[in-house]
Amino acid sequence: MEVVVLDSAAAGARFVADCVGRLLQRDPHAVLGLATGSSPLLVYAELIARCRRGEISFAGATAFLLDEYLGLPMGHPQLYATVIETELSGEVDLRAGAVHGLDGGAADIEAECRRFEAAIASAGGIALQLLGIGRDGHIGFNEPGSSLGSRTRLKTLTARTREDNARFFAAADEVPRHVLTQGLATITEARHLVLVAAGEHKADAVAAAVEGPVSAFCPASVLQLHPHVTVVLDEASAANLRLRDHFKETFAAKPAWQGV
Ligand code: GLP
Repeated sequence: MEVVVLDSAAAGARFVADCVGRLLQRDPHAVLGLATGSSPLLVYAELIARCRRGEISFAGATAFLLDEYLGLPMGHPQLYATVIETELSGEVDLRAGAVHGLDGGAADIEAECRRFEAAIASAGGIALQLLGIGRDGHIGFNEPGSSLGSRTRLKTLTARTREDNARFFAAADEVPRHVLTQGLATITEARHLVLVAAGEHKADAVAAAVEGPVSAFCPASVLQLHPHVTVVLDEASAANLRLRDHFKETFAAKPAWQGV
């Protein structure tokens, strides 16, 4: 696991945009895994700006979303399919139909989850999966207690996550209780995992994920088992890392040929 601590969330966003840009240069048909929530928004703004300047193109790329709410009507602004269209795909040159999400309105939820897993596999798997982290250590919507071997399925949100996400809704009780999410085993099949976090409210979750025991209690700790993870932090979200100074020294002294 590489932990990159930068001065600001904006610097982190530029770093992650560089990772995406290099991937798309190497493979214009790369499969991207996209996250929602506020953490990746600066990354998306940076990618949109680079795309408008002609520095990056998504024209050959495909993307899969991490998760989706159940029970929101079609076109609801907080449906993650809508959010990603507004925040990224509608603003860059991704082809129509290139972004695959989960259908929270499907009549047969288990079949929908199987369909989604099969679609990822038939696209050749995800090359780079962008992740945020919840204050309770969730990734996607894999709440504490999620099996480290889980696949895409229905989950129930914790009261804390519903409170955290209430800021996106008109009223707290509008936040759905149920969601569909890629499982932890699904997520960790992506070839490169890039987790972004910023702000002191993420410091405990980041420390538990990076330095705590690997445990279903902190679902993001499963990243410790993956061979290629980049955790991109600002100073505030890195504040509780015991190895913070070491991570900073390592990054500062990193040989240029190593790449990310
Ligand atoms: C949300 C999303 C996650 C996201 C996390 C943190 O509920 N399902 O994908 O990483 O919670 O959200 P934020 O980035 O807004 O803090």
